[in-house]
Amino acid sequence: MTLPSNVTIIEVGPRDGLQNESKFIPTPLKIDFINRLSETGLSVIEATSFVSPKWVPQLADAAEVFQGINKKPGVRYPVLIPNIKGLEKGLTVGVNEVAVFATPSEKFSQKNTNCSVKESIERIAEVIAVAKTHGIRIRAYLSCVLGCPYEGEMAPEKVAALADTLFKMGCYEISLGDTIGVGTPLKTKRLIEVVSAFIPVNHLAVHFHDTYGQALANIYAALTQGIASIDSAVAGLGGCPYAKGATGNVATEDVVYMLQGMGIETGIDLRALLIVGQFISQQLGRKPYSKVNLAMMR
Ligand code: HMG
Ligand code: MG
Repeated sequence: MTLPSNVTIIEVGPRDGLQNESKFIPTPLKIDFINRLSETGLSVIEATSFVSPKWVPQLADAAEVFQGINKKPGVRYPVLIPNIKGLEKGLTVGVNEVAVFATPSEKFSQKNTNCSVKESIERIAEVIAVAKTHGIRIRAYLSCVLGCPYEGEMAPEKVAALADTLFKMGCYEISLGDTIGVGTPLKTKRLIEVVSAFIPVNHLAVHFHDTYGQALANIYAALTQGIASIDSAVAGLGGCPYAKGATGNVATEDVVYMLQGMGIETGIDLRALLIVGQFISQQLGRKPYSKVNLAMMR
């Protein structure tokens, strides 16, 4: 077993973390949050999403947020988009990296994007065609890879086939999303074994929601399979409004603490991150959903 010596953390707090908040978070606070995250040593911060404001009102200010943040040199600020309209809106404000999303679950595809899996791939193909002409990097998420709230268990082979399609279409990285946090370590290991038969493991990432408290164990299993890109959200923020039962992402503080303890580099200043986790939690009127944050900031 060889563990990676370096891991890239993709901080999804400003996007996945905030999209599920019911009370509108003022735009200046979102900008302040991202600017603070930019000072922690993170190299990738998913800033917002250009989805339909009718579907996710919380992120209706995507353009203002993206324009308002300080783009720190060396930090990448991808955004989530569901269709060509999202890409066009992003382009007007200088977006230069996007993430698209799909799922092997027909029912979740309908709930989350109001279209079939096949239609979602067609939309993504349109996005990729335009994005490529602008030299934009495209990442892809696959949701419900370890279980779906509407269809139950998901066959790893089905996930692998869709991941392979997206990779061949030109997505540089496929992030495997356990949207409702039902996965366990051996299932995670098996999933990565099956998917990495199609896609080199250095083009795969993992994205765990911690609904059942399995995220760190699953991340460890993923690391043993060679995964070196991990999505997480500071203070354990997050959830998908269209996945019943989905709660927060694994907390970035907890992931960084675990990696540091294993001698794996992330470039992140844990103490600085803890302070940002405290800050956003206070603003949202709650304690961080991060055991490391609670323990170290006591
Ligand atoms: P629809 O209603 O079928 O689309 O939604 P439509 O084309 O009929 O558009 C409806 C309205 O939205 C129209 O406005 C469009 O112009 C507008 P109207 O004419 O009625 O005034 N519209 C847009 N506006 C701004 N930006 C856009 C855009 N697109 C349409 N991009 C659609 C289809 C895909 C748009 C919708 O279903 C949608 O936005 N879904 C996104 C839902 C979402 O954001 N879910 C959470 C993110 S995914 C996630 O969290 C999982 C992940 O974290 C990984 C994991 O955990 O597994 C990534
Ligand atoms: Mg998510």
